Amino acid sequence: MELRDGIRTTGAIRGFTDQVVDDQVVHDILDDARFAPSGGNRQPWRVVVVKDPTLRHQLGESMKPVWDEYVAISATGKTPFTVVDASAYQLASVTPGNVPNDLLDNIGNIPVVLAVAADLGSIAMMDKDLDRATITGGASIYPFCWSVVLAARSRGLGGVITTFASRVEPTTGPLLGLPQNWALAATIFLGHPIKQTTKLKRHAVDKFTTIDAFNGSPFTI
Ligand SMILES: Cc1cc2nc3c(=O)[nH]c(=O)nc-3n(C[C@H](O)[C@H](O)[C@H](O)COP(=O)(O)O)c2cc1C
Repeated sequence: MELRDGIRTTGAIRGFTDQVVDDQVVHDILDDARFAPSGGNRQPWRVVVVKDPTLRHQLGESMKPVWDEYVAISATGKTPFTVVDASAYQLASVTPGNVPNDLLDNIGNIPVVLAVAADLGSIAMMDKDLDRATITGGASIYPFCWSVVLAARSRGLGGVITTFASRVEPTTGPLLGLPQNWALAATIFLGHPIKQTTKLKRHAVDKFTTIDAFNGSPFTI
């Protein structure tokens, strides 16, 4: 597949066939993804291939309340877990129900479950002293995560990056033996897609690009 096609057509896949994905394929995917960039080329990632059914179940059960909370907040029109609008957090305790989730309800059957952690001691958090939540550290780990999904796609697989586990890291971290000063960045689910979506809904360039300033005129051609 052309790189450009891959970039433009790799959507989130949450439904997988029963087809097993061999360890060799998982290894090959990670062997491609390791070429992702990171600040100072420190490559602060570690990956756990989650195979044990009990562990998968425990992770799934830990993450389900996060999904319930996410859905409950989304239903109010707010962005879940935003650091900007604290009222969204208060709403979180109001209505969470048991909302079905294709990934978490079937975690035992998903062909590949990867937990990705980041070594906070190896990340130069350039915005750490600003009076707002940090964001730059993620830039040293999520390109790797995305490369995992792209590398999977190049082999006919699909998948999705999720961050449920981070919200409950005090529970999921110890389950996975997360070392001190490491952060759970993502849980990535992979497999052969039941349906490969290729038409993605994304904003047009002039909706998010301006000239010379973020309040400048749209960058249109
Ligand atoms: C950092 C990040 C976190 C995400 N977290 C979740 C998640 O917790 N659960 C989930 O189902 N999808 C998650 N996604 C997938 C997004 O929902 C998906 O990329 C987006 O809705 C676009 O979907 P599409 O590619 O099918 O158009 C995440 C994606 C990213 C990049």
